[in-house]
Amino acid sequence: MMGKFKAAIITSSDSGYAGEREDKSGPVIREILEGNDYEVVHSILLPDERKMLAAEMARIADEGLAELILTTGGTGFSPRDCMPEATMDATERLVPGIPEAMRTYSMTITPRAMLSRATAGIRKATLIINLPGSPKAVRESLEYILPALEHGLEILTGQASDCARK
Ligand code: MTE
Repeated sequence: MMGKFKAAIITSSDSGYAGEREDKSGPVIREILEGNDYEVVHSILLPDERKMLAAEMARIADEGLAELILTTGGTGFSPRDCMPEATMDATERLVPGIPEAMRTYSMTITPRAMLSRATAGIRKATLIINLPGSPKAVRESLEYILPALEHGLEILTGQASDCARK
């Protein structure tokens, strides 16, 4: 069955890209999305390279491949972590409420949630959201924000225009 919205997954991991480490978080995102009627059209593992990450986000948005891009990894304090910077390079409008909500909820699970530098933003008709790197944190964050995303994506893609009614 075709999903309600098309989604793409970008994993940022030097060790994953080098084949030294299995990407466990990308598949968790896919499982949750597919269980919630999203069609995952694209999934890619890239190194922690700001320009490559931003270019991939821009390409997906500009070619209209997906309305939603979820990323995992690269949001922490490691010197090579650059996912929020790549996302800010690629987006035209920021959506601070989504990472605020993820951190607020995640703070009830671990105070280390405050260490997440995740951001979210919009390029054209594509919403891009950074999730943390670990499969556990991905699941906790994504399951919490997912119910609100549908309305935002409907507005972004012109399928809904009125937030007040409904
Ligand atoms: N959020 C949730 N829900 N659960 C978690 O276990 N871990 C935190 C945080 N957010 C965590 C979380 C930790 S330990 C870090 S360092 C930051 O996310 C950044 O994660 P990353 O470096 O894996 O991208």
